Amino acid sequence: MNDALLEVNRLSVGYKVEDGWLSAVHDVSFAIRKGEFFALVGESGCGKSTIASTIMRLSLDHNERLEGEVRFEGHDLIRATEPEMEAIRGSGIGMIFQNPLDSLNPVYTVGWQIDEALRAGGMDARSARKRTVELMEAVQIPDAARRANAFPHELSGGMRQRVMIAMMLSRSPRLLIADEPTTALDVTVEAQILEIMKDMRDRTGASVLMITHNFGIVAETADHVGIMYAGELVECGSVYEIFARPSHPYSFALLNALPRRRKRDGRIQTIEGTVPRILGESRGCRFANRCPRAMDCCRTEAPPRRELGADHWMRCHLEVNA
Ligand SMILES: Nc1ncnc2c1ncn2[C@@H]1O[C@H](COP(=O)(O)OP(=O)(O)OP(=O)(O)O)[C@@H](O)[C@H]1O
Ligand code: SF4
Ligand SMILES: [Mg+2]
Repeated sequence: MNDALLEVNRLSVGYKVEDGWLSAVHDVSFAIRKGEFFALVGESGCGKSTIASTIMRLSLDHNERLEGEVRFEGHDLIRATEPEMEAIRGSGIGMIFQNPLDSLNPVYTVGWQIDEALRAGGMDARSARKRTVELMEAVQIPDAARRANAFPHELSGGMRQRVMIAMMLSRSPRLLIADEPTTALDVTVEAQILEIMKDMRDRTGASVLMITHNFGIVAETADHVGIMYAGELVECGSVYEIFARPSHPYSFALLNALPRRRKRDGRIQTIEGTVPRILGESRGCRFANRCPRAMDCCRTEAPPRRELGADHWMRCHLEVNA
């Protein structure tokens, strides 16, 4: 893809566990264009955070096994050195996490923590504080100059998440990764935070990789959607295509599990059966034990990629339109 900012090519990630290597992510490929809002959706444990932390190279250690490529502006992040990654984290790719208390330092005021990010970029203390207050205002923190002197525990969850977004914006990243940034918040605050992120994308042209359980968020914010199951990306397409024509039996089941009137407003419901835990190499389709349309070949052969339209595809043995 020519205008891709991020390209993930055939990425596989295994974790060493007591009984072998857990296949947390398997053969995942997708691309995010400049300015695009891409949502990665799937049940708990399907590998979403593993993809995010692999892109940021946050958790590489001897308990992980990686294959494939992650290209950001053409650079292969999997093979980048730590100093190269340091340069990319923050100003190239910024990340916000599910629980902002884990990422904010409890012993410093929130203003100081944003100042520090700006000072690390070469700004003097006075200009940094001025910019900090502007950034806090941009993420709709009321009375920002005063709130800059608050400690993280003095702010509500929604305000802390805004602080995290402001801190990330301070480095003007070209790709923003948000790993379930609103799960811990109530729905009104959730909607406000998403508005802020959309607004940021519109104003700065940054791309967003949003990780979520919530189809409501996907419908309201995303341009493109990837649906994951048990470590694999099973269907990918524009938000319109995915909602109008979910084609992989798993996507179909997920979208049909949402009551019609809540389709654009619901968290993923569980569907019958359990997600398999894959150790080592797996054969066949990982959804076969739950799939109402499974055939013999599904248990023995890896499903092929089927093109469903421009930029819309799935991995399944079913013939298209079957
Ligand atoms: N450091 C680790 N060591 C071993 N297993 C891990 C590690 N991190 C994650 N896993 C396992 O890898 C799989 C994928 O986990 P991951 O956190 O990427 O899923 P997720 O889709 O983000 O889930 P959730 O929606 O609950 O956040 C899970 O089975 C998880 O238990
Ligand atoms: S490959 Fe087979 S088991 Fe897997 S989703 Fe398609 S039909 Fe179902
Ligand atoms: Mg996660």
